[in-house]
Amino acid sequence: MQETRRAVLDTIADGPVSGPDLATRLGVSRAAVWKHVEALREGGFGVESTDEGYVLDSVPEYGGLAVEYGLDAPFEIEFHHTIPSTNARARELVSAGDGAGVSDGGGFGEDDANAKRDVVVLADGQTGGRGRLDREWASPSGGIWLSVLCQPDLPPAHAPIYTLAAAVAVTRAVRAEGVDAGIKWPNDVLVRNDDLNGDSGERKLAGILTEMQGEADRISWMIVGIGLNANIDAGDVPRGATSLREEIGDVDRRVLVQRLLGEFDVLRTDPESILPAWREHAFTLGQRVRIETTSEIITGEAIDISFPGALELETSEGSRTVSVGDCEHLRPF
Ligand code: BTN
Repeated sequence: MQETRRAVLDTIADGPVSGPDLATRLGVSRAAVWKHVEALREGGFGVESTDEGYVLDSVPEYGGLAVEYGLDAPFEIEFHHTIPSTNARARELVSAGDGAGVSDGGGFGEDDANAKRDVVVLADGQTGGRGRLDREWASPSGGIWLSVLCQPDLPPAHAPIYTLAAAVAVTRAVRAEGVDAGIKWPNDVLVRNDDLNGDSGERKLAGILTEMQGEADRISWMIVGIGLNANIDAGDVPRGATSLREEIGDVDRRVLVQRLLGEFDVLRTDPESILPAWREHAFTLGQRVRIETTSEIITGEAIDISFPGALELETSEGSRTVSVGDCEHLRPF
């Protein structure tokens, strides 16, 4: 959100302030104040004009400005009611030159001369959501579908650490809502229901699809796409999946997205903290697993994770380190 607009919001949230007073306090013209107030109203904020001045009456339930308001992380939100895919839109931003900063070190979204904010594309619904291995990703209205477009200062080989950070961020955000979620290597967020009979008792709540482009030693751009089944009916998620509505009822998506992005930002600024946090929330560690890679199937016990995101296994033929593959949790012997 533009800095002056944020300042207008913060000021009128604390009580009625007249237009002239606002203009003086923020060092802008009265016409500029009026424009910001109109833009906020268009964005769904309830701005009352009282005898004493403007006062913030209500915040929109969901949307770009709604998420930016109160967001404690440097992201600019581009919101869409419906879009084919937030990852595809983020790729468009890269090639449209909003990614011009990609090669010269600038940001994707520039608020003012000095502020550098990464862009998050956020949608209420997607019509062409994609998952890993180019699978379809059901994305009805009511979910949390977002893509963080960023330029981490990392070599491409270290990119998986960012995906793990996203899985931890999602897990922390939904655990704060009271959902007993954990991570299946490398980055599926699951919910365990011990009382379920038949299959594993684990249901997928969220998935992450990371795309990137890099040179030999530096990532040019990275898109971390997160799909979280939030306020969606059980019948609208694929078999083997669940939603927050199913687990705990509807949540405030604005608060959840803010928490998720805040957690992601904290983790990415302290990369050393990512693996310990992942271990803390992992369902996979200590499990018997079956990993399918492009060339083989490996069965064993998952012992640990190592930088930047490889799974350490103990198999009947000795220790193995697996960097990429599809993981299935097996029942204990
Ligand atoms: C997976 O297969 O587990 C990853 C699913 C990732 C889905 C998200 S939803 C937001 C973003 N846009 C997409 O088209 N995909 C990702």
